[in-house]
Amino acid sequence: AQRREINDTLARLSLSSENLQQVKDKMRVELERGLRKDSHSTASVKMLPSFVYRTPNGTERGKYLALDLGGTNFRVLVVKIRSGIRKSVRMYNKIYAIPLEIMQGTGEELFDHIVQCISDFLDYMGMKNTRLPLGFTFSFPCRQTGIDKGSLVSWTKGFKATDCEGNDVVEMLREAIKRRNEFDLDIVAVVNDTVGTMMTCAYEDPKCEIGLIAGTGSNVCYMEEMRNIEMVEGDEGQMCVNTEWGGFGENDCIEDIRTRFDREVDEGSLNNGKQRFEKMTSGMYLGEIVRQILIDLTRRGLLFRVNTPQVYKNIKCVTPLSPPSDRLALLQVRAILQQLGLDSTCDDSIIVKEVCGTVSRRAAQLCGAGMAAIVDKIRENRGRNQMNITVGVDGTLYKLHPHFSRILKDTVKALAPQCDVEFVLSEDGSGKGAALITAVIDKYLYAMR
Ligand code: BG6
Ligand code: GLC
Repeated sequence: AQRREINDTLARLSLSSENLQQVKDKMRVELERGLRKDSHSTASVKMLPSFVYRTPNGTERGKYLALDLGGTNFRVLVVKIRSGIRKSVRMYNKIYAIPLEIMQGTGEELFDHIVQCISDFLDYMGMKNTRLPLGFTFSFPCRQTGIDKGSLVSWTKGFKATDCEGNDVVEMLREAIKRRNEFDLDIVAVVNDTVGTMMTCAYEDPKCEIGLIAGTGSNVCYMEEMRNIEMVEGDEGQMCVNTEWGGFGENDCIEDIRTRFDREVDEGSLNNGKQRFEKMTSGMYLGEIVRQILIDLTRRGLLFRVNTPQVYKNIKCVTPLSPPSDRLALLQVRAILQQLGLDSTCDDSIIVKEVCGTVSRRAAQLCGAGMAAIVDKIRENRGRNQMNITVGVDGTLYKLHPHFSRILKDTVKALAPQCDVEFVLSEDGSGKGAALITAVIDKYLYAMR
């Protein structure tokens, strides 16, 4: 009977192929709504123009500074790009901490901190007196009116600094540099991390026209036809669009698959009601969903029952029939529970492992369903029956989770059979992509002088 209760609880988190097909279809509707003038202001998927018109072609060159803010790490980098047959990119970077009180303090404190890190980095590199062009990867939704202008729509993930929303992040950075009055920089471009990641990967693979982040947050960008982007003048060529798909569902369109655990997580977050898809699919929230489920099971007496006789607690936790990888995983689960001070029985660790598996499988499948909508849209844009395309990917969830990437790929294959989708890991981060974008603009500005 207990087993049935647990199964019932987890069944709410297991998605059928029908569910996933529906997610794909609804995502498609929201993508279209976000692109259209008459509906974009109410669309849950914002579809923000990036003002990046093409992927790199190998002619980019020069020396640039890049900032990479908003993922697990805040990085400052110098990127040296060589063009032509000896095309290459060399990078030097340093990682800095952003303490919680800065992430959630005032905007001025946040940008002063960023500039202090740049100052330290320039000292470290011995480059204080060289005024370099800078590309800024800023991994939050920005409404851009040009490549170097972007006002923050709203903070997401763990950031909540005051007096930033609605303001131009490039201006805020410029002002902080002025306040410090120690060095000068030309801020040439502000880009989302998805866009930077797509550019990083496209430098090696011209078929890369999509950028995916499955990390602290979840988001995708892709090359869209200008004629479909109603918010930007002009019909010729393409532009990269930052979908901000993390907001998918803010208009209640996926309430049928959200569970009470998802609602708990949402209510306990910094941005209640927002980023509902992100809260089901990204690294910052998956652990919290699991925690909510474990609390519930414990309250219902289905897990961590204190009165379990000691003899059961140390029973060997694997059967001779379980495959070696499974056994190892169970032992690891047990060790982690022990570290947390939770005395667990063999059954407990099996249940905990099942909960984790269910929650992360759902996350990967949802990402896959979203991705299927994107690739089919691109394919239809091009009037093609079949299409090969590459997705550049970054993010700790994709990189470090043992099953996430496989389930994601399988789901895309099942839901978008007319697309042959290759996933390429970004090895160098999005800062490289931001520098490549900066190089394109810099060349253009130079030619105009
Ligand atoms: C990094 C990119 O490697 O991945 C960042 O350079 C991006 O721009 C990050 O934000 C996303 O992953 P995570 O897991 O650090 O949020
Ligand atoms: C959040 C941000 C988005 C970013 C993503 C991945 O969803 O809103 O801009 O791309 O996290 O870092």
